[in-house]
Amino acid sequence: MQVIPGLVIERMREEDIAQVQAIEREIFLTPWPKNAYHRELSQNRQASYIVLRREGEIVGYGGLWKVGDEAHVTTIGVRAVDQHHGLGRALFAALVQRAYVLGARWITLEVRNSNDHAIRLYEAFGFKVIGRRRGYYTDNGEDAIIMWSDSIHAPAFKRNFVQMLGSVDVSGLNGTPLPDYPQS
Ligand SMILES: CC(C)(COP(=O)(O)OP(=O)(O)OC[C@H]1O[C@@H](n2cnc3c(N)ncnc32)[C@H](O)[C@@H]1OP(=O)(O)O)[C@@H](O)C(=O)NCCC(=O)NCCS
Repeated sequence: MQVIPGLVIERMREEDIAQVQAIEREIFLTPWPKNAYHRELSQNRQASYIVLRREGEIVGYGGLWKVGDEAHVTTIGVRAVDQHHGLGRALFAALVQRAYVLGARWITLEVRNSNDHAIRLYEAFGFKVIGRRRGYYTDNGEDAIIMWSDSIHAPAFKRNFVQMLGSVDVSGLNGTPLPDYPQS
């Protein structure tokens, strides 16, 4: 197990938005509009957003929408200086766990064609490429790759997920639902 001391997953709160946006400006070509997170947290009942803290400081974040049977990962990011150390895996595990808690059957997401690192992360969780949206990203005309989990209740997906969960040591993970969330 990869043990990274002091890591905690928590629900994103209003007071976290400034730090999340600072990370976002650093790692995304086109950050979300200024009020997007505020709207997501206060008005979108389908949305769940989380932050990953290390010794109190936000080092990553992520979110999804639960729409019908499907959980759609809307964003995930790790501070540039902290990438490639397993934090993305911890965040993504927390999002998958959230999808289970919300009763989703599938998880889907879009990722830039060139984003090999993120694609490898999703593949490690058993996601597969199911399509492509040509020119989806208007900032550079890049295609979006659409990835899909298949059923998250399929034994093979679950087995792999349990293994991924076991490979990170983060409070708020490891079988227990995230604190502060309703159970359905
Ligand atoms: C994508 C992102 C969130 C990943 O976070 P990270 O902390 O850097 O990633 P991790 O170190 O946890 O894991 C990813 C790597 O570990 C690999 N990995 C993790 N667990 C694994 C496992 N159990 N088995 C095999 N491979 C595994 C992944 O394949 C990937 O490999 P690489 O380092 O060779 O590319 C981060 O790089 C980021 O914020 N990027 C900028 C924003 C972005 O692109 N977001 C995604 C938008 S769709």
